[in-house]
Amino acid sequence: MRFDIISIFPEYFTPLSASLLGKARDRGLLSFGVHDLRDWAYDRHRTVDDTPYGGGPGMVMRPEPWGQALDDVLTPQARLVVPTPSGRPFTQKVAGELADASHLVFACGRYEGIDSRVMAHYSSVVEVDELSIGDYVLAGGEVAVLVMIEAISRLVPGVLGNAESVSDDSFAPGRMERLVEGPVYTKPPAWRGLEVPAVLTSGHHGRIARWRRDEALRRTAERRPDLLAGLDRADLDKHDRRLLESLDLAEHPDPVAD
Ligand SMILES: C[S@@+](CC[C@H](N)C(=O)[O-])C[C@H]1O[C@@H](n2cnc3c(N)ncnc32)[C@H](O)[C@@H]1O
Repeated sequence: MRFDIISIFPEYFTPLSASLLGKARDRGLLSFGVHDLRDWAYDRHRTVDDTPYGGGPGMVMRPEPWGQALDDVLTPQARLVVPTPSGRPFTQKVAGELADASHLVFACGRYEGIDSRVMAHYSSVVEVDELSIGDYVLAGGEVAVLVMIEAISRLVPGVLGNAESVSDDSFAPGRMERLVEGPVYTKPPAWRGLEVPAVLTSGHHGRIARWRRDEALRRTAERRPDLLAGLDRADLDKHDRRLLESLDLAEHPDPVAD
């Protein structure tokens, strides 16, 4: 899978050669191109921004350098991803959709963002996704793009080893889609007076799976009750329903109630 990133701060992307992503790149599963938008600026000062039409504080990124850069970097099969707080929420599901693409191009905004005509123009050329990583405002798109690339890359077949299955993760499509994972433990069995739950050392796979499911339901109810409200009844077994009925879901609609 190929990732191209256009930014005025290409140095933000050195972590792409570290850890999991770096290994996947060395194995030929992922490739990265990082481009400096100013290479496509058209004046002596390599300007990429200007004052906003309509007035107001801040600057807006001009469309011409973006047009030149995207004309050079996009391919017919590429999807263009533009991080913005006003975008569709970037979720595990969206990461999964993007992991199916063969080429993703990321356009990192700065200042008050990119002139809207850029997204309007390229929407008739390739698929354009304007995506937000959360309800807060960053100084630029670079960190958001690193977040997205890491989440997408670990879903590309072969990037994770067998030992790191993604199907049990929080938000994984299927039975975990509206749940967060419960607590995890490793050795030693007792630490500072705190013991690992006995079921995990029982060797009983069925009971361990049930305990993990219960803990995921319990933790989601406690920390993310908003997710439970959207749980699909078809994904709940009898035991799940009983557990949910026993929890205090006062603030959010109970997914098992009729
Ligand atoms: C200072 S922000 C611009 C915020 C814009 N004025 C607004 O209120 O929506 C500059 C850039 O940071 C990036 N950015 C900031 N917050 C983001 C978020 N939550 N998700 C994705 N990108 C974000 C975008 O690329 C954006 O163009």
